[in-house]
Amino acid sequence: MSDTKPESTGPDLTMGIAIDTLADGKMIAGHVGDDAVLLARRGDEFFAIGAQCTHYSGPLAEGLIVGDSVRCPWHHACFSLRTGEALRAPALNPVACWRVELRDEKLFVREKKAATETSGTPRAKTEPQRIVIVGGGAAGFAAAEMLRRQRFEGSIVMLSDDDAPPVDRPNLSKDYLAGNAPEEWVPLRDADYYGQQGIDLRLKTNVGSIDPAAREVVLGDGARIPYDRLLLATGAEPVRLSLPGIDLPHVFTLRTLADCREIIARATSARRAVVLGASFIGLEVAASLRARGIEVHVVAPDKRPMERVLGPEMGDFVRRLHEEHGVLFHLEDTPTAIDASAVKLKSGGTIDTDLVVAGVGVRPRLALAEKVGLAIDRGVTVDEYLETSVPGIFAAGDIARWPDSHSGGPIRVEHWVVAQRQGQTAALNMLGRRERFDSVPFFWSQHYDVPINYVGHAETWDEIAVDGDVGARDCAVRYKRGGRVLAVASINRDVESLAAEAAMEMSSVPG
Ligand SMILES: Cc1cc2nc3c(=O)[nH]c(=O)nc-3n(C[C@H](O)[C@H](O)[C@H](O)COP(=O)(O)OP(=O)(O)OC[C@H]3O[C@@H](n4cnc5c(N)ncnc54)[C@H](O)[C@@H]3O)c2cc1C
Ligand code: FES
Repeated sequence: MSDTKPESTGPDLTMGIAIDTLADGKMIAGHVGDDAVLLARRGDEFFAIGAQCTHYSGPLAEGLIVGDSVRCPWHHACFSLRTGEALRAPALNPVACWRVELRDEKLFVREKKAATETSGTPRAKTEPQRIVIVGGGAAGFAAAEMLRRQRFEGSIVMLSDDDAPPVDRPNLSKDYLAGNAPEEWVPLRDADYYGQQGIDLRLKTNVGSIDPAAREVVLGDGARIPYDRLLLATGAEPVRLSLPGIDLPHVFTLRTLADCREIIARATSARRAVVLGASFIGLEVAASLRARGIEVHVVAPDKRPMERVLGPEMGDFVRRLHEEHGVLFHLEDTPTAIDASAVKLKSGGTIDTDLVVAGVGVRPRLALAEKVGLAIDRGVTVDEYLETSVPGIFAAGDIARWPDSHSGGPIRVEHWVVAQRQGQTAALNMLGRRERFDSVPFFWSQHYDVPINYVGHAETWDEIAVDGDVGARDCAVRYKRGGRVLAVASINRDVESLAAEAAMEMSSVPG
């Protein structure tokens, strides 16, 4: 997101570091000239790569080495120590690599290596020529990017009914909405990228149906686009409450950049906002509107915010955190009507307001998949290769329900990183690679200066084990069933979160 260079802190790695100060599996952050560089050791091998994550500039030296890769402490991107390649989303760009020389028991970081070609493997004879992607969001973009990274030379058509090219959607409820991020941080790539990469991105283009027998996508205007492989990545859309006044011009939902711009335009003159729903997006919106100095009321039927996903301890903490920032909660209550200047509540109360944002959940956009007759089970059913019940049609992201080897069942989640990683795996599988999708689910959420990271997946649990102090913002909360850890939510325990992810990868339920 940011392209600012970090300050060159730590030792000058060109001057030599005593080898015995770098233990196996450890890293040292330093610099080479103006570049922040980390020096890492794995057994008797030494690596020097860029120290700044290419996602949001996280400090990689504070992450975790797993095999010959390093994982970012903030949102779990993964980079190859050997090549610098961004092996796992959310980072999509590589970091640079430097040559390391061992001389007289000292490690010297020498010149920067030339950028290496990424991991494209030799092309299969049966590789498709025409790939169509329906969806210009996290999964669709990551798939197109991976196809080109793999040096796929056929055509890629990416169809999106949005009017904006792929954006950093998580930012829309956080820094961008809060007014802390410039608009140039929002697109995932510059406008020229698509032309340069030969990705035929068609915006404001609605896909009306698919003809699997002819292998053609049918656009809203009747035009047909042939495909050899098709990826459905149609995402989700906000649930619209059925409520008098829900269509008034000061009532919004948030999914797209256009939605966000409208909220920001309204927020510039609004004095008091009502957020309907105490979900992740609702509360991130609440925090961002508070950053704009607007009085914020949150109305939700829940007893505690986020309790269903995070449990009571974290729910109480999140509530207190928002209250400390001035948010007023109306819990165990629901709106009954909205008019031009107020929201009426079931409890009988009324909140005067000039801005309403409804964040009451999303539903997967399944219409296309249903029309084609794909197997559906509260999402598009895919196998471990992300292929749907119709050969040649893949699905990824918020719509996909996949056999998760960690929780042991088919699951569907709404997480940015999962959508991107599924897009990447689907891309490989559309090229015939047969890669299982076996990432452990991960999401993050940010409230003011408090990041919450969550690895794994626990829809229900029979035990919550809290390690640390939730109120002191230093904790790892484990959600268990039958003694087995299904998920870990953490605050400021980044390495523990990464280690939990790595442990879950090792202990998957056989598929
Ligand atoms: C405001 C906000 C903040 C979020 N913050 C976080 C966060 O902090 N952490 C996290 O893990 N997750 C977060 N999420 C969730 C995350 O953004 C989603 O999980 C992710 O975007 C899903 O990716 P996707 O590709 O499946 O769908 P999307 O990104 O929604 O993309 C779907 C695409 O399909 C297109 N489309 C749909 N139907 C059609 C059609 N018929 N024809 C043509 N195009 C079509 C849409 O226009 C869109 O381009 C957030 C979501 C929102 C809205
Ligand atoms: S900053 Fe590294 S993954 Fe986000």
